[in-house]
Amino acid sequence: MNPPGLEDLLTCLRFPSVSTDSTRNADVRACGAWLLDKLRGMGLTGELHETPGHPVLLAKNKHVAGRRTVLLYGHYDVQPAEPLGEWKTPAFEPTIRDGRIYCRGATDNKGQLMAHVQGLAETMAKHADLPVNLTVLFEGEEEIGSPNLKPFLEKHRDELKCDVVAISDTGMVAPGVGTFTYGLRGIACLEAKVHGPSIDLHSGIFGGAIANPVTAVARLTAALHDAEGRVMIDGFYDGVQAIADWERKAWAELGDGDAEMLELTGSPALFGEPGYTERERRWARPTAEVNGIGGGYQGEGSKTVIGREAFVKLSFRLVPNQDPDAVLQKAEAHLRKHLPPGVRLEIIPGHTGMPYIMDPHSTLGTAAQRALKTVFGDKIALIREGGSIPIVQAFKDVLGVDTLLLGLALPDCQAHAPNENFPIANFEAGVRLNQALLAELA
Ligand code: BES
Ligand code: MN
Repeated sequence: MNPPGLEDLLTCLRFPSVSTDSTRNADVRACGAWLLDKLRGMGLTGELHETPGHPVLLAKNKHVAGRRTVLLYGHYDVQPAEPLGEWKTPAFEPTIRDGRIYCRGATDNKGQLMAHVQGLAETMAKHADLPVNLTVLFEGEEEIGSPNLKPFLEKHRDELKCDVVAISDTGMVAPGVGTFTYGLRGIACLEAKVHGPSIDLHSGIFGGAIANPVTAVARLTAALHDAEGRVMIDGFYDGVQAIADWERKAWAELGDGDAEMLELTGSPALFGEPGYTERERRWARPTAEVNGIGGGYQGEGSKTVIGREAFVKLSFRLVPNQDPDAVLQKAEAHLRKHLPPGVRLEIIPGHTGMPYIMDPHSTLGTAAQRALKTVFGDKIALIREGGSIPIVQAFKDVLGVDTLLLGLALPDCQAHAPNENFPIANFEAGVRLNQALLAELA
């Protein structure tokens, strides 16, 4: 028998709400509209708010003076499903195998978002009301950096006033281990384009006399790190908050993560900044990553050509006390400094998001951990995460509140990758967690 709420989750998953793909705009909106209907059906009032991009869903119960106000945030947009050929079953047709739902968005973030919704529904069914003032904020642009949400927070500051934010959009360290995340990395993206000749050229006729943009992009890319994996951009590590002793200890107690990392990634070896464990590198150290690189001939066989331009797409993951805009400036200066002669460099800045950290031992942090213990048992993990949720620091800056990150994803849920999946057991645990959380926060 399917657990309550599962059918709704499957319906939500069938919307191909890919926020970065403009041909899917109507699907993103339809998913938001469906969610709004669902919440209205449960007795909440709310609407879809237009933005210059995808709509924001804002809904509430009847707020009563004297109760704590909790804002639940989630995102109903998803990453592109490509490469489609690597999916075992179609990317937007949720399919259940071995207790897991396979579909784009299953774990990131629809499975976790629908656990909020079903948790609310069950609490409301039992008590006719919620024990808190509830504000639901679901957006359709998280996967493109939430460009319109911070202005929305500023514009609706009064309506959004709350005591705390809760989000399920992070991970669990292992199945059945309640996990409280008190920090996220920030992000800053850019694309570097290198322009050479005004037209593609015969590499025999012209080669040797002019610079090749692909070579220049390769040199720039190689100049980002030293051979051991440290980022070489001047001032990149300035102000980076050191990892606290208690964190190093707590993370080490999770056991040696190296073997699991090798298994999960299929990489022949681990690699990264010397002096840190793999968890420290992922959760608390900044990085520079190449997300894509291109130029010249990509087809079958060889083609003797010098392409007129080449590109590299970079993202930097940032930790507390780094500022995304400052990092983009430093990165641009570094690329300009290392640009070989004979080409022109164009920098296209991309989206940014601030890093986040809170005190996990705060009153609200410990309340959330009690909720985790109710559902998962006493041994819970306190971690930071390497991924980014750009709006979280904005909740702090604009609304003045902390965010409780209560993730339900497992390390092998394959977020952003083919065959993304979410265990039904995690959905059910999430439904219980949301009810426990409301009770604890009340
Ligand atoms: N849910 C993730 C963020 C995440 C994943 C946090 C795993 C912690 C652990 C979120 O949907 C996401 O993918 N964010 C993007 C943001 C970016 C596109 C601005 C990310 O981290 O790449
Ligand atoms: Mn994501």
